[in-house]
Amino acid sequence: MKRRVAILISGRGSNMTALIEAARAADFPASIALVVSNVANAAGLTAAREAGIATAVVDHKGFGKDREAFERALQEALDAHGIEIVCLAGFMRLLTPWFVRQWEGRMLNIHPALLPAFKGLDTHARALAAGVRIHGATVHFVIPEMDSGPIIMQGAVAVGDDDTEQSLAARVLAVEHAIYPAALRLVASGAVVLRDGRCSGPGHKAEPPPPLIMPVL
Ligand code: GRF
Repeated sequence: MKRRVAILISGRGSNMTALIEAARAADFPASIALVVSNVANAAGLTAAREAGIATAVVDHKGFGKDREAFERALQEALDAHGIEIVCLAGFMRLLTPWFVRQWEGRMLNIHPALLPAFKGLDTHARALAAGVRIHGATVHFVIPEMDSGPIIMQGAVAVGDDDTEQSLAARVLAVEHAIYPAALRLVASGAVVLRDGRCSGPGHKAEPPPPLIMPVL
């Protein structure tokens, strides 16, 4: 049985689309049963509807400062669709420990940096300002502390001298679209589980690739 997944978005939803497309494969262990947005006019909602996925809007503004009331409404939408795994994909609300605990080991997030470096916003500009030579993206389990949970998968890109925030963002986004479906496959199939605060699984199936060295030797 495929695991029922909800994707939570706030914006354009390109990671959402990557997950929807991957989940069309017959052997993918999850199906995208619901897309929820806290922003009624998020572009990703249109893309989800066009892909034939059920959508829901839970607008945080209707709940004022009452985060838990917002999250109870979110939880109701997830329960109504029998959701088993939640994927945050550009979802721009901080979640309370109450909500996060409900989904412990069953909620994933994608972050556009190699965590634990560059938590928070504007990761590409900060990576360039710091002069890092290697940057990337991370899929991790969500814990109450922001951008901090156990790491499921990472992908790296070399940073060139000519890179701009835009060029770097585009290369990292391509990595995001590759690793998010792959990480969801691992979790939905049970190949990776959260145990004692760490990701536990069978480890590498293949030889690791050669090291990424920048500048090129
Ligand atoms: C991505 O860069 C993701 O890593 C971050 O927010 C952005 C969302 O982009 N959390 P999209 O909506 O998936 O296109």
